[in-house]
Amino acid sequence: CGIVGYIGAQQAAPVLVEGLTRLEHRGYDSAGLAVLGGSGLRLAKRAGRVRDLAESLPHRFGGKIGIGHTRWATHGPANDVNAHPHTDAAGRVAVVHNGIIDNAAALRAELADAGVPLVSDTDTEVLAHLVARSTAATLEQRTAEALARVEGTYGVAVAHADFPDRLVVARNGSPLIIGVGEKEMHVASDLAALVRYTTTVAHLDDGEMATVTASGFTTYRIDPSGLSATDRRAKEVDIDPAAYDAGEHDSFMHKEMLEQPARAEAVLRGRLDERFGTGHLGGLNLDARELRAIRRVKILGCGSAYYVGEMGASLIEELARVPADAEPASEFRYRNPIIEPDTLYVAVSQSGETIDTLLAVQEVRRKGGRVIGLVNVVGSAIAREVDGGIYLHAGPEVAVASTKALTNMYLAFAMLAIQLGRVRDLSIADGRRLIAGLTALPGQIEQVLATEPQLALVAHRLAEAESLFFVGRVRGFPVAREGAQKFKEISYRHAEAYQTSELKHGPLALISPQVPTVAIVPDDELVERNVAALEQIAARGGPLVVVTHEGVDLGDAAAKADRIDVPRSERELDPILLTIPLQVLAYHAALSLGHDIDKPRNLAKSVTVE
Ligand code: G6P
Repeated sequence: CGIVGYIGAQQAAPVLVEGLTRLEHRGYDSAGLAVLGGSGLRLAKRAGRVRDLAESLPHRFGGKIGIGHTRWATHGPANDVNAHPHTDAAGRVAVVHNGIIDNAAALRAELADAGVPLVSDTDTEVLAHLVARSTAATLEQRTAEALARVEGTYGVAVAHADFPDRLVVARNGSPLIIGVGEKEMHVASDLAALVRYTTTVAHLDDGEMATVTASGFTTYRIDPSGLSATDRRAKEVDIDPAAYDAGEHDSFMHKEMLEQPARAEAVLRGRLDERFGTGHLGGLNLDARELRAIRRVKILGCGSAYYVGEMGASLIEELARVPADAEPASEFRYRNPIIEPDTLYVAVSQSGETIDTLLAVQEVRRKGGRVIGLVNVVGSAIAREVDGGIYLHAGPEVAVASTKALTNMYLAFAMLAIQLGRVRDLSIADGRRLIAGLTALPGQIEQVLATEPQLALVAHRLAEAESLFFVGRVRGFPVAREGAQKFKEISYRHAEAYQTSELKHGPLALISPQVPTVAIVPDDELVERNVAALEQIAARGGPLVVVTHEGVDLGDAAAKADRIDVPRSERELDPILLTIPLQVLAYHAALSLGHDIDKPRNLAKSVTVE
């Protein structure tokens, strides 16, 4: 979900709508605004996209203070009533909220007993009522009283008709940023909403609150005994506002895919030691002795980050010969995992906000484990929580389907694996060979992307199928999983990943001329077996798309297969170049089906609720 706020000399509504449009990738099933003007607090909210809201705004929706929200439904369906902002019964207090209130049911019951009419199914609504019922002198104290009753996480912004010169905002677990403009101030949950207006920003800390007026802001720590002032200053952030524009591209996904060569260079820059054939990852905060003491690596992430984690685990096992595996962070935390002191835990997250991953990190730390982060967003919750890590330098990623962040996660894993390997058995020659391989990757990624027109033709054929398989083995299996994930999330086709070797133990029953298979067949030690499996698919009339290397003989199966050759890398590093064409296939399939590429149905970019 996304939060915006404005206070200044302009009409608030257009500024808020612009901010919400920039945040829409974070949730897009409903949106709303509240503005404070001469006639008090006015509210507009509805299910649907921000543009639906903008089109339906009443003519006279005046006011120079306001808050807005774009939602990804959690408590209650996406309908007009459940959209934020939420208000008290008298319509004098408006609240927008990200995060989750764990004790919402108890608070709702308590309010209902007190005769307060609750109109929505949301957890957030209680906050509006609690603020309204407080009799403290200031809006800050009233908000603090309300928040003191809440168990859970929040980024929150409050407007109150009785305090028409300010907004009050607070943070606990969900980001909140204040942007300083010319005689105006902005509030947002994400920089994306602000950069058009200002790059001078202050990030609130967990447990912090701020008063925001047209001329400035003041911050406090919310202590049990009251509010104590903190000294938070706004700083200039070094960000190119163009990074938040799709420019000439039809979608952010397309723009972000094509940025991959440059972003891949950025994550490698300064981190490769060619002389000693190793990685140079200062942010890990681990010296050679500590690296050597690691007996196991456990990788935690969600969605695409989890699949890249699987690629990373296989790299680490291969190069460092340290047992490694990846697990969805969401599952890990609930099965009372055994936390070992000589295991290195690795949290992988583009946003650094995914709550399942964040909570898994906290669980590991609570039990004394050491966690590093592979995170893109600098200063995000996971980045702050870990003991060290590798920033991904992918730049802002807006499309829900991850491309450039995913690629940089892979490259970060490769550097980590080499560094872990080089304090063990990996030779200097192999280290140098792999580093040369890594250095070549940005250019090779560019070569793959240059084949977009051919890939588009293949994608158009795949898009016609209701159901398809993605298959691979060993290094190629996480590639197939990620490929299927990308395809299903934006094309809405049923795409299932399988180990090529397991096809004959079940799924072959589904193969038919209507069910194509995308097969990952690198020129590695398994190539003959993979080709044999292609024959089995072809024999059942299954259409084939084969992602492979130049020169690989696909045998009889090749006759009718669509063949996609990617450049050769070092064998261990093959997965990333095999992944790139699958992004392009998913993108063009979704495009030909006329889907909203950047905002696939039912999904959101950063899932900050469990
Ligand atoms: C959501 C997105 C996925 C993403 C996952 C992890 O589910 O829809 O595309 O891979 O979150 O996001 P993170 O920011 O933690 O990498």
